[in-house]
Amino acid sequence: MRSVPPLTAPFGGCEIDSVASKRFAIRTYGCQMNVHDSEKVATLLEDSGLSAADGEGDADVLVINTCSIRDKAEHQLYSDLGKLRAWKAEKPGRVVGVGGCVAQQVGDKLLGRFDHLDFVYGTHNLRKVPAMLEQADRGQRAAWVDEEASQDRFDLPMRRPDAPVGRRHKAFVTVMEGCDMFCSFCIVPSTRGREISRVAVEIEAEVAALAEQGIREVTLLGQTVNAYGRHDVRRGKAATVGTMPFAELLARLDAIPGIERIRYTSPHPLFYDDALIRAHGELAHLCPHVHLPVQSGSNRILEAMRRRYTRERYFEIVDALRAARPDIAITSDLIVGFPGESEADFEDTLGLVERAGLVDSFSFKYSPRPGTTAADMAGEVPAEIAQDRLERLQSQQKAQTLAYHETRVGQTSLVFVDGESRKGQGQLSGRDPHHRVVNVDVAPEAPVGPGDALVVDLVAATPHSLLGRPVDPALQPVPRD
Ligand code: SAH
Ligand code: SF4
Ligand code: F3S
Repeated sequence: MRSVPPLTAPFGGCEIDSVASKRFAIRTYGCQMNVHDSEKVATLLEDSGLSAADGEGDADVLVINTCSIRDKAEHQLYSDLGKLRAWKAEKPGRVVGVGGCVAQQVGDKLLGRFDHLDFVYGTHNLRKVPAMLEQADRGQRAAWVDEEASQDRFDLPMRRPDAPVGRRHKAFVTVMEGCDMFCSFCIVPSTRGREISRVAVEIEAEVAALAEQGIREVTLLGQTVNAYGRHDVRRGKAATVGTMPFAELLARLDAIPGIERIRYTSPHPLFYDDALIRAHGELAHLCPHVHLPVQSGSNRILEAMRRRYTRERYFEIVDALRAARPDIAITSDLIVGFPGESEADFEDTLGLVERAGLVDSFSFKYSPRPGTTAADMAGEVPAEIAQDRLERLQSQQKAQTLAYHETRVGQTSLVFVDGESRKGQGQLSGRDPHHRVVNVDVAPEAPVGPGDALVVDLVAATPHSLLGRPVDPALQPVPRD
């Protein structure tokens, strides 16, 4: 990995004396990219001498990492900030910061609206957080939401090189950020800026360093992850120096010793080529699961959404992935109630979910976002119709998910344990290679826990998970490759 850059003042990773004894907590909303950004902010704060609090009650500094994908997500911030007035007043010297996609969108106006808010940082300005905290300690409030278009964007200490990964087996790795697609409903291009890819040697070095620390599974992140390295080509320029086609990047990561599972999210259907499809049949560690957002099954709506593919093309990709990797599980994101969506359009979506054999999906009611082209479109779908469609879609999906899970019963699978299941009582929960949740009953004193791998027989199915019985009654975890 590129060594941790010498972050120079005023945005330094150097110890900040005045705040060094403070404890921080981070509240995170939104997608995996936001979760990973919070990990990066935590690292920056630890590098500045702060330590993680046991909880928010115990913290001196609270950072809210926000999401604005739907109206509800944005309003969550305003509700949280309202409540934090009391939290801040409880203990002198407490600091509140806001980052992420709402911060990028609203910027310093947030400071005007909430006088107990100390700092605001945008999605390209994570490295400014320690300095803003120091300023806050001196009573200065600030907002940084500038766009950063160079590789410095990625040049953050991902994790403390000396920090043990603990009982953890998986990690996120950013490969690209931003989105140039401008789907008509989506706020992300304005909250994450233009696409930029990280150079491949740095990605490889980070993955190799993670493998050395004991990480067995990596999830490559990017808003349009399989557009990796192509942005400049699409802009009519030469490819970004140091990048390569996504399938080639996957092949390089596949060869890193110790990495047993590779996932990537979220790909866009437009950027599937033969090489990426072949990779699913050829690369030993590429998982048999793709989360491939489709949004709608109606060509008319797909066009209005500016998705740049048809349902037929989506089927072509799904069929090709299945030909390359017959056991592949395909999941997706869907929107109902997009402006102008008729009952027939919606039925096309139901039809697509069935024809594509979606193993699972996240489905949402369309939420108009400020500044997007769909926000001005006519044909608003009444709320109760959108709600009814969402329920019909989810009930069809639930039946399909259960049917898929039932096909898995009787098979043997490898589960990477994440932690206790929702049920608790000694039941562990993890993911199989297909990204399905598998719960495993073990005795409380069993020698397995988070970060371990277990071979299980899949013995029962529900719409939400599979139940696994350990093949080895002694419950010895499966060692690394
Ligand atoms: N880059 C990914 C999507 C990231 S956003 C892609 O291209 O598919 C995650 C999901 O949120 C989207 O797939 C979409 O289903 C949903 N979403 C985005 N904007 C939305 C909106 N305005 N209303 C409802 N759902 C939305
Ligand atoms: Fe949003 Fe479309 Fe970009 Fe996905 S590809 S982040 S849905 S604009
Ligand atoms: Fe939300 Fe921003 Fe992710 S809007 S979904 S946190 S990119």
